[in-house]
Amino acid sequence: MGNARFDLTAGPIGVFDSGYGGLTILEKIRSRLPSYDYVYLGDNARTPYGTRSFDIVYEFTLQAVVRLFELGCPLVILACNTASAKALRSIQQQDLPVIAPSRRVLGVIRPTAECVGSMTVSRHVGLLATPGTVRSQSYPMELHKLFPDIAVTSVACPMWVPLIENREAAGPGADYFVNKYVGQLLGADPAIDTVILGCTHYPLLMDKLSKAVPQGVRLLAQGGHVAESLADYLRRHPEIEEKCCKGGSCTYLTTESAECFEENASVFLNEPVTARTIQL
Ligand code: DGL
Repeated sequence: MGNARFDLTAGPIGVFDSGYGGLTILEKIRSRLPSYDYVYLGDNARTPYGTRSFDIVYEFTLQAVVRLFELGCPLVILACNTASAKALRSIQQQDLPVIAPSRRVLGVIRPTAECVGSMTVSRHVGLLATPGTVRSQSYPMELHKLFPDIAVTSVACPMWVPLIENREAAGPGADYFVNKYVGQLLGADPAIDTVILGCTHYPLLMDKLSKAVPQGVRLLAQGGHVAESLADYLRRHPEIEEKCCKGGSCTYLTTESAECFEENASVFLNEPVTARTIQL
């Protein structure tokens, strides 16, 4: 413990994503817990993570977590399903005990899975996510731990993140791919009554998704649930909570150009932001 690289210090809550998607989570966290300071880090230079291998996503995510620790964050949220699916467990079990035993890293899959049990009546649940998250099987594993009676069907949506990142989410091209993946999912299991949007970008397709699913099928966007789960975590862990600085600020960091980030982030947040470029 004495040799750990990072002791527990007071600082902002770190929020990490491969790019812009985590801003949908950050927005909900900030509106639920506005008094804290936050630092958002988007690895825009190396996005997307969704099509990358386990080892690469783990390596990139660990670099980002270390950087957020260097910035003093006592707690880091992996606001990216792909990073949560492929890197969280290794970081929690292998890295934290060595480099920062008193700091914490949390993900978005568990809090999302937790609310599914009370949402589904048919006990047939669908997952729409990146190829990496689907391949990792993290959602079915987490869901089966919590609710062994639930049947899970997953469909990877490789075109959705590029459509959103290229500002085509509202365009007619998006209709085709929304209908394609939703059709595959409900075609594979017509009894599905709850669909997890297992990627932080997908709430930006909500208008089209709501039209694409039949009435009675519920779409589960994660931001609000992750925010609620964080509030609960901070209540239960005063030793971490008291180290989270409370100035209501948010700093935006990106591995790509700051101008580019500022322009695109405003689409996700509906407000102007100022960003700074860093290297990992
Ligand atoms: N933010 C990622 C997620 O939630 C999607 C973007 C990417 O593929 O990097 O899975």
